[in-house]
Amino acid sequence: MSTLSAIVAGVTYRSRNGAVEALSGVTLDVASGEVVVALGASGCGKSTLLGLFAGFVAPTAGQVLIDGVPVTGPGPDRAVVFQDDALMPWLSAEDNVAFGLRLRGVGRAERQQVARDLLRDVGLDGFAGHAISEMSGGMRQRVGLARALAVSPRFLLMDEPLGALDELTRERMQMLLLHLWQASGKGIFLITHSIEEALFLATELVLMSPRPGRIVQRYRPDFARRFLAGEPIRAIKGDPQFLAMREDLAATILAGDEEYARHG
Ligand SMILES: Nc1ncnc2c1ncn2[C@@H]1O[C@H](COP(=O)(O)OP(=O)(O)O)[C@@H](O)[C@H]1O
Ligand SMILES: [Mg+2]
Repeated sequence: MSTLSAIVAGVTYRSRNGAVEALSGVTLDVASGEVVVALGASGCGKSTLLGLFAGFVAPTAGQVLIDGVPVTGPGPDRAVVFQDDALMPWLSAEDNVAFGLRLRGVGRAERQQVARDLLRDVGLDGFAGHAISEMSGGMRQRVGLARALAVSPRFLLMDEPLGALDELTRERMQMLLLHLWQASGKGIFLITHSIEEALFLATELVLMSPRPGRIVQRYRPDFARRFLAGEPIRAIKGDPQFLAMREDLAATILAGDEEYARHG
């Protein structure tokens, strides 16, 4: 068990055009075995919060800790997955997945074994030798996931990982993510601006709002666990309770949106 914590954390960016308070007073735990999802319109500080957890961004107020120890930068205990998969297109799927292990000096045979096992886990059995440039968006995102998992991180930090995928591929990836989560028990922090995706995946859902970026609501959906217990995805996403929560979230988001407040 491990916990990544932001404690009353704030980030103010200073640029030539002045200061931007990107995040203010955010307290949030990502513990092993939890899927914490940040939902909100663009500009509400979601990526900044992920940057704090990843160690890319230093807090200008408050603290970021792993099991009580301050985060001082990126580390192998936290793997980051972006929407833009950032794979190396000239390498095969297997070499992309094994890249981090190679940097760590893991021998060729072991790297190959780990990479092939992970490619199988993400549904790409038989694609180890394929070039990234020949793969679809969904396949690339699977390779990206396998690559993140290859270094055995304690936490997966994902910034709109499924945002570029078509609807059906996206839903398949949501199911895959939950299965991988169940098998690994890792702590996951995931950003999305899809209300439905947030509700389906989250064990804790935090709704964020901009200027300054902050958490305005917290929910504890149980749809991910229901899915993993065997309930079909269509039954869950069509469940009146799911639909009611989706509408409630949409209304809350719109109420905080100045444009809608004037015209909606
Ligand atoms: N490096 C930066 N320098 C200055 N301002 C930034 C920087 N990164 C983000 N911002 C600003 O901080 C706010 C939050 O950005 P971000 O965390 O990217 O939000 P989100 O991911 O929710 O869209 C925005 O107003 C954005 O313009
Ligand atoms: Mg962002």
